[in-house]
Amino acid sequence: MSAPVALSIVFAAAAAISGANAQTSTSVAPLADQTYAYSALPYQVEPYGGERGNQVGYNKCNSTTENQESYCQTLIANGIDDFCLWSSPNSNDTIGTSEAYEVAWCAAKGHGTRIMPDGTLLGVQHITTPDYVMIVGYIDQTQVNLAADDYGGELDPHGADLMGNPMGGMVYSNQYPSGNTDNSTLTQVIEWKQFIGGNQFCLMICDPSKTSSTNVGLCNNVYDEVGITYNCPNSAQKGVYEVCDGDSMTPIGQYVSNGVTTTWTQPWSGTWTVPYTPTVPASSNCRTYASTDLYKADVTPTASGSGSAAGASATGKSGASNSSKSGSSAGASATGSSSSASHVIVSGFATVLGVAAAVAFLA
Ligand SMILES: *[C@@H]1O[C@H](CO)[C@@H](O)[C@H](O)[C@H]1NC(C)=O
Ligand SMILES: *[C@@H]1O[C@H](CO)[C@@H](O)[C@H](O)[C@H]1NC(C)=O
Ligand SMILES: *[C@@H]1O[C@H](CO)[C@@H](O)[C@H](O)[C@H]1NC(C)=O
Ligand SMILES: *[C@@H]1O[C@H](CO)[C@@H](O)[C@H](O)[C@H]1NC(C)=O
Repeated sequence: MSAPVALSIVFAAAAAISGANAQTSTSVAPLADQTYAYSALPYQVEPYGGERGNQVGYNKCNSTTENQESYCQTLIANGIDDFCLWSSPNSNDTIGTSEAYEVAWCAAKGHGTRIMPDGTLLGVQHITTPDYVMIVGYIDQTQVNLAADDYGGELDPHGADLMGNPMGGMVYSNQYPSGNTDNSTLTQVIEWKQFIGGNQFCLMICDPSKTSSTNVGLCNNVYDEVGITYNCPNSAQKGVYEVCDGDSMTPIGQYVSNGVTTTWTQPWSGTWTVPYTPTVPASSNCRTYASTDLYKADVTPTASGSGSAAGASATGKSGASNSSKSGSSAGASATGSSSSASHVIVSGFATVLGVAAAVAFLA
């Protein structure tokens, strides 16, 4: 097919822009170094600003900040019925544009945030593994302010200026320390990643007590271009809500070829293919639920985004100049059934290339 040729040219140009913006500033305290008990969170953990400006929202969230205009930037990941996702505060936005200023949207009340309207979550798998907890599934992303055709991107506590995406975004969970049985105790999660876009999402929180590079690596963000399939191998299904135990995934990029364990690293330029197809780790002890038993926030859905992907236009305007990582695609490579090996992974700037990328992946 001819599409990948044209796309690779566009990508080469995009990569050049991306590289030019990959600067590191040390004038701001890195977000991943900010540690606070949940109850001791300041108004903002990144109050001083950096090359991208100031933190837009706040971290001290409570009942007075719990409404659909909230700018709470403290995300809770407790369980299948009580977790939040980062998404835009502005309607019909894209992850590429909004990554710096996203806010928490939660499935349950009580965290001082916006609430996901009823019917937002269309299938969720919650997996507890020895190294991380992963909440992954299908979403009507228009309900959390994303354009219907946004292929999305990746959020994490680092970013080129180390202020995180979103800037100042903090994550807490009652799943840690592992074995915690007190649901009201929230522990800070240092390493995490979230993908959202293409009507799919994945939130992975790595066990904060495990600081080996292998464990931290499971939540790392240098494979942001290859989406959920590679970063969050899973068996989530639409319409299914389940909580499982599972094995930890193989570190991203690691695969066995001819009996030799090899590590693939995502290139930052050029056109490339991923040399392996990820395998979904074994899971067990799955318990399924009805969505109506899990999600009772009782927030009325907004009018669903009218756009279908087919009607979208690549505007050429992207949020990419704000960060080296903008617009990496969450959804484009997440078409579970396709074999990665035969595809050019159309990298970067999915807010611009999303539609073309979708075509490429279907071809
Ligand atoms: C609630 O949160 C807001 C926003 O962070 C803060 O200004 C206010 O002081 C908080 N209220 C209480 C009682 O902590
Ligand atoms: C903690 O949460 C789990 C999962 O929602 C629930 O089964 C359990 O009963 C809760 N424990 C307490 C002490 O509330
Ligand atoms: C969302 O934004 C796109 C691009 O600006 C526009 O074409 C579309 O009509 C908007 N959709 C809604 C539901 O506002
Ligand atoms: C970066 O993002 C901010 C916040 O949305 C926006 O105001 C600004 O125009 C963006 N800058 C560039 C260069 O795109």
